[in-house]
Amino acid sequence: MEESPFPYQGPLEPGEVRGRDDLVADLVRRIAAHKVTALLGPRRYGKTSVLHRVAAELTEVHTIFVDLYEVTSMADVAVRFDEALAATTGRLGSLTRRYAVQVSLNLGALRVALSGPARSRPDPALVLHGLLDVIVKTAASSATLLVVDEFSSVARVEGVAGAMRTAFQHHYRDLGLIFAGSHPSMMRTLFTSRPQPFYGQADLVDIAPLSAAAVEEIVDRGFATTGRHSGRLAGLLVDFAAGHPQRTMQLADACWSHTQPGGSGDDAWPAGLAQVRRESSDGMERLFSGHNLSERRVLRSVAVSGSVHGHEAELLGLGKSPATSSRDSLRDAGELILHNGSLRIVDPVLADWIRQRFPL
Ligand SMILES: Nc1ncnc2c1ncn2[C@@H]1O[C@H](COP(=O)(O)OP(=O)(O)OP(=O)(O)O)[C@@H](O)[C@H]1O
Ligand SMILES: [Mg+2]
Repeated sequence: MEESPFPYQGPLEPGEVRGRDDLVADLVRRIAAHKVTALLGPRRYGKTSVLHRVAAELTEVHTIFVDLYEVTSMADVAVRFDEALAATTGRLGSLTRRYAVQVSLNLGALRVALSGPARSRPDPALVLHGLLDVIVKTAASSATLLVVDEFSSVARVEGVAGAMRTAFQHHYRDLGLIFAGSHPSMMRTLFTSRPQPFYGQADLVDIAPLSAAAVEEIVDRGFATTGRHSGRLAGLLVDFAAGHPQRTMQLADACWSHTQPGGSGDDAWPAGLAQVRRESSDGMERLFSGHNLSERRVLRSVAVSGSVHGHEAELLGLGKSPATSSRDSLRDAGELILHNGSLRIVDPVLADWIRQRFPL
């Protein structure tokens, strides 16, 4: 089967990242200037893809990539660092292994050691301390970038942010450090409300939706390189998905798969949209019903009017004070964003599902 030019699951390869040149250049500059940097943005906006691309651009620098997605305990965090270090290869791999031996750590063996009998189980906090030390020593011998993805999860685990600060605060001149996370309020809290130096010195950089020009370039190129025309599809995608990277790609893929070689993608828009609606409707239903009543009212009001205080809100029985507090919690969680003065549901497919499901 012909491979789709629009992958929409998981991070992209560095060479596939488009429309992010300015952001990538900006991040590369900050890292080169030894600024601790945090990349903030909603889910599925392409944060991990951008981080991979940044690492690929920094050809003189070795990268250690740690993913803290949904970590819930110190043991979890230590295992993620252990596995990230165990995955290093080449010169970086020999350095990390050499320094690990010096602190009696056997990289890659922690998960198994932690599931052993209680008596012989290592203390995860001590192990983490040792692993962070390995990173600092490695960075002192060779230019190293530490990428910490999904950093907002550490807010749940007592002691991790502090341990990382203690380990890195005097070394960020050697060690490039970039954090990313999708829970905007948690990220801001982690980086701004700490009186201590280090996190407070970080530059916070937002990842925006893809521009209309980027969507056009991505869509036109994807269709052209596979012998099809995109027609007006890019415009339809921008109207529907407003630059949401993953949804844009998913819809582009669906339209592409309904377009014969030589055909035009915009003819496939109704079929592509119907397919994505079909595939996502159960998930949207679950997501929506997982919210409390006041949040559901806010989502409905925003989906239709972009506001929580107008006529729609009134029709839905949404009072002023619950409207404000649920709006804020949905914004904190990264489900709503403020765009040009009006509120928007981050996921355009959820917004569409709500409008279809609850026509007013
Ligand atoms: N620059 C881009 N150009 C086109 N599509 C993109 C781009 N960045 C991301 N995407 C699309 O979004 C999807 C998710 O990207 P990625 O995993 O990097 O996002 P993320 O913000 O890290 O998501 P998550 O919140 O799941 O960690 C990709 O599979 C791709 O379809
Ligand atoms: Mg990611």
